[in-house]
Amino acid sequence: MRLNLKAAAKALLHEQVVAIPTETVYGLAGVLQSEQAIDRIFSLKNRPAANPLIIHVSSAQEIEPFVQTFPKDFEILAKTFWPGPLTIVLPVKEETILGKARAGLCTAAFRIPALPLTRKLLQMTGPLVAPSANLSGTPSATSPEHVEKDFGELFPVLDGGPTQCGLESTILVFSEETWKLARLGSITVESLETCLGYEIKFVNGRSEKPLCPGQLYRHYAPRAHLHMDEDFSKASLILGFSDRNYSVRSISMGASDDVEGVATQLYHVLRKLDLDGEKEAWVDLKFPETGLWRTIRERLFRAGGY
Ligand code: TXA
Ligand code: MG
Repeated sequence: MRLNLKAAAKALLHEQVVAIPTETVYGLAGVLQSEQAIDRIFSLKNRPAANPLIIHVSSAQEIEPFVQTFPKDFEILAKTFWPGPLTIVLPVKEETILGKARAGLCTAAFRIPALPLTRKLLQMTGPLVAPSANLSGTPSATSPEHVEKDFGELFPVLDGGPTQCGLESTILVFSEETWKLARLGSITVESLETCLGYEIKFVNGRSEKPLCPGQLYRHYAPRAHLHMDEDFSKASLILGFSDRNYSVRSISMGASDDVEGVATQLYHVLRKLDLDGEKEAWVDLKFPETGLWRTIRERLFRAGGY
């Protein structure tokens, strides 16, 4: 059920859960102070209770009451990347945020979305918690149609059309005196390194303890199996690029010189594999390892269960 801005704000203020657009992916939102809304978010998504939620605000001042201390370089990060798809994990005063929202941690993740419609909504509702609006483990939702596929036609959605970035926000955590990446995302590592002036490590949660609980769970995965071995000899279907010729049937992720286009479409394409009833696909991994391509590569590997 599509809601306009006013109706979405009203429903949220009545402690209901509403799917909302952001520039990255759709979020399943509830007001921060509502235990009822938070419980519903976890149960709707079938999300493990140990996986905390991101808090969305419309301005940096709004996070001040919650934060215990601001780590060094927080200000420059916030000034450079907010509003935008950067999530920053900060130590919080625990009594100011419901334990369920932060999964019992003494930190919380914050971001200011870039989409003007989302910020207008946030001005009307105050801080909103919102994980991605998909069933846990499946590809995130980048359109109202994706939300309705996962939660039903009657589920309330603030319609912002298809999302611009198509991949989730990048997550930074301050640990051992430096900022580290807990999740690759729509903001590139290179642009963060330019801002901070040092190399930033990505803790991917496989070889060492994750900085972000979400890394423990299977993510972004369609039911179709993705082969990531670059051996197309047995391939029956290739997940590839529109400007390349393949000897078997292929589905396009976009043009190989249009990284933003591929990012925007990625989850739509992964979801389409399931809608079309595909059982398996071989991924064309011949694309750069840097910038936004790095995030796309990581999401494809996670989608393949690697
Ligand atoms: O782009 C996005 O970030 C979207 C839109 C809706 O804002 N949201 C999103 O939320 O991707 P979600 O819940 O699907 O992913 C949030 C990730 C999870 O992996 C969670 O573990 C991590 O953020 N996270 C939340 N709080 C954290 C904390 N205090 N410390 C470390 N990681 C945290
Ligand atoms: Mg998610």
